[in-house]
Amino acid sequence: MYYPGLEEKNVLLIGGHSNLGQHVTKLFAESGANIVIWARDTKKAEQVATEARRSNKGEVAVVEVDATDWDSVEHAVKKTQEFGELDIFYQGVGWDVLGHFLDLDPGLWDTIYERNFKSVMMAYKIVLPIMIAQRNGCFISMSSVMGRRPTPIEPVYGAFKCALIHLAQTLALDVGQYGVRINVVAPGPTPPKTLDSVSANSTFHDFMADMDEFRAIEKSFAAQIPLQRTGDPENCAHAVLYLASPVTGGYQTGQVIGVDGGWWMPK
Ligand SMILES: NC(=O)c1ccc[n+]([C@@H]2O[C@H](COP(=O)([O-])OP(=O)(O)OC[C@H]3O[C@@H](n4cnc5c(N)ncnc54)[C@H](OP(=O)(O)O)[C@@H]3O)[C@@H](O)[C@H]2O)c1
Repeated sequence: MYYPGLEEKNVLLIGGHSNLGQHVTKLFAESGANIVIWARDTKKAEQVATEARRSNKGEVAVVEVDATDWDSVEHAVKKTQEFGELDIFYQGVGWDVLGHFLDLDPGLWDTIYERNFKSVMMAYKIVLPIMIAQRNGCFISMSSVMGRRPTPIEPVYGAFKCALIHLAQTLALDVGQYGVRINVVAPGPTPPKTLDSVSANSTFHDFMADMDEFRAIEKSFAAQIPLQRTGDPENCAHAVLYLASPVTGGYQTGQVIGVDGGWWMPK
C-alpha cells in the first residue's frame, strides 16, 4: 500500500526486520522511500531487504548496529548519511520477559532499561541534532499499551514504555520549531504469525518458548480487550506510516497512536 509524500525520502529503521518492523519496512518500500535497516541479526534484515527491493522503487540497505552502544549507533548514522539526509527514523527496538515484579530477576533490570529506553535516548541524542540542522525530520518510537495502563506481568518494561512517551512529548516541544516531528505508536499485544518471521533477538523467542503458557496469556489479554483479540502486525505498521507521511501525519507531533483493540482509551 502506498502512502503519499515518501518517495525518495531516506528512512532509517532499527528493528525494521522483526515482527512489526518488517511490515513497516514493506509499506515504506511500497511508498517509494529509500530504506536503511539497522540490525544485529543482519541475516534476517537482508531477507526483509530482499523482499522490500521487489517493490522496485527506492534503494534498500542493511547496516549492522547494537542500538545500546554509543559508538555503534554513531558509526551506523555516519554510514546511513552516505545515502543523504535522515528524513525519517523508526525506533522499533524492544525486549521483555514476562513476570510479576517480585518474581523478576533484578539482573534483568539493566537489560530491560538499555533495550527499551536507553537505546531510544541514544538515538534521539545522535539523530535529533542532524534533523534540527536539516530543518526537517520525523522520529517515531514504539511504546506499548503497557506504558499507558499497568499490567502486572510487564512491570519494568511498562514503566520504561511510559517514560518513552514522556520523553517523546518533551522533545517534541523542543524540536517542533525546527520542523522536526516526534510521535509514538503504542501497540497492544501483537504476536507474530510464526516464530520464523521474527529476528534472532526478538522477544517472542522467549515469550513463545512455552506455547501453552503463551496461548493462556494471549487468551487472558484478549478477554480484557474490547475487540476481544490480539492485533495483527500490519495494523501497527499502518499507524507508523500514517505518522511518517507528511500528507497524512504532517501536522502530528507529540502524539501517541494506540493500536490496541481499544484496551486503552484516552480522551
Ligand atoms: N509486538 C507486540 O506485541 C508489541 C506490543 C507493544 C509494544 N511493542 C513494541 O513495538 C516494537 C516492535 O516490536 P516487535 O513485536 O517487532 O518486537 P521484536 O520482534 O522483539 O523486535 C524487536 C527488535 O529489536 C531489535 N533489537 C533488540 N535489541 C537490540 C539492540 N541492542 N540493537 C539492535 N537491535 C536490537 C531486534 O533486532 P535483532 O534481532 O537484529 O537484534 C528486533 O528486530 C518494540 O519496541 C516493542 O516493545 C510490541
